[in-house]
Amino acid sequence: MKVAVLGAAGGIGQALALLLKTQLPAGSALSLYDISPVTPGVAVDLSHISTAVKVEGFSGEDATPALKGANIVLISAGVARKPGMDRADLFNVNAGIVRNLIDQVAQTAPDTLIGIITNPVNTTVAIAANVLKKHGVYDKNRLFGVTTLDIIRANTFVAELKGKQPEEIEVPVIGGHSGVTILPLLSQVAGVSFSDDEVASLTKRIQNAGTEVVEAKAGGGSATLSMGQAAARFGLSLVHAMQGEANVVECAYVEGDGEHARFFSQPLLLGKNGVAERRPVGTLSAFEQQALDGMLETLRKDIVQGEAFVKG
Ligand SMILES: NC(=O)c1ccc[n+]([C@@H]2O[C@H](COP(=O)([O-])OP(=O)(O)OC[C@H]3O[C@@H](n4cnc5c(N)ncnc54)[C@H](O)[C@@H]3O)[C@@H](O)[C@H]2O)c1
Repeated sequence: MKVAVLGAAGGIGQALALLLKTQLPAGSALSLYDISPVTPGVAVDLSHISTAVKVEGFSGEDATPALKGANIVLISAGVARKPGMDRADLFNVNAGIVRNLIDQVAQTAPDTLIGIITNPVNTTVAIAANVLKKHGVYDKNRLFGVTTLDIIRANTFVAELKGKQPEEIEVPVIGGHSGVTILPLLSQVAGVSFSDDEVASLTKRIQNAGTEVVEAKAGGGSATLSMGQAAARFGLSLVHAMQGEANVVECAYVEGDGEHARFFSQPLLLGKNGVAERRPVGTLSAFEQQALDGMLETLRKDIVQGEAFVKG
């Protein structure tokens, strides 16, 4: 199993690479790429950790050497938010970065599974899909927007509020990955119940949790360590499913049946070739249904912006 991380010298990339070096199955390869010249050094640093995972690092304009033979590519290359910015403000810079990197993925590793972390995820996934389409290698079961951070945040906040262990809680989070498009399905969390006020305030906190970090870092960037953990969880789920493990289910932002929007985050059964089955979002409470109806215009607009950037 070879996993490539693009943007590997950044805050998320380094945390993610560390977690993959310590948690990938023995015999795996980890390939790091970033335009930053520090990247080969990050790889040397990680290579001293005593696990049977081979690490290589590449820098410069060409991602190809890192992508050769990759089974999974996780992309966190791009700029992060500063206070006062929302994820959409990152579009101008990050759209071009994602287009360029996916171009190289399409040419070098057309069968790989791709996880996009770079924001605005609602839009960058649409860009990636259309670039892959242009190259004739798009498979909607192999392209994911990584929304796992919303899930681990939701699990943590629910556990805090209800006096549970975070590991006992699993909150499905559907929709997209910004503001009102993030919709935690609190009505579906097993073993806990919430008052209407709790649902309203928890939902808001989960939707704005990224901003909590951006403001606390006071200009130093956005979530990197929790995002590294979230991306590692998602990447390792892909690895385990590719290796034949049964019942690996994660929520992620993928092209679905278009019932709500072309791209939509929902629970997915993962398999050897990416998405094996799109699971229904289940029964929604009245609050959740209203939130779903209310997000769709924003989500569809975000998607159209990506589609317009790269015509499919
Ligand atoms: N999906 C999520 O839940 C989530 C959460 C937090 C942050 N993010 C996003 O992840 C991205 C990265 O965040 P970060 O905190 O690691 O930022 P960072 O600035 O610490 O790291 C970004 C890295 O990307 C590299 N880079 C820039 N252009 C590149 C290119 N063309 N090719 C290769 N590498 C390139 C930079 O050199 C840098 O090392 C941002 O877009 C951020 O908004 C997503």
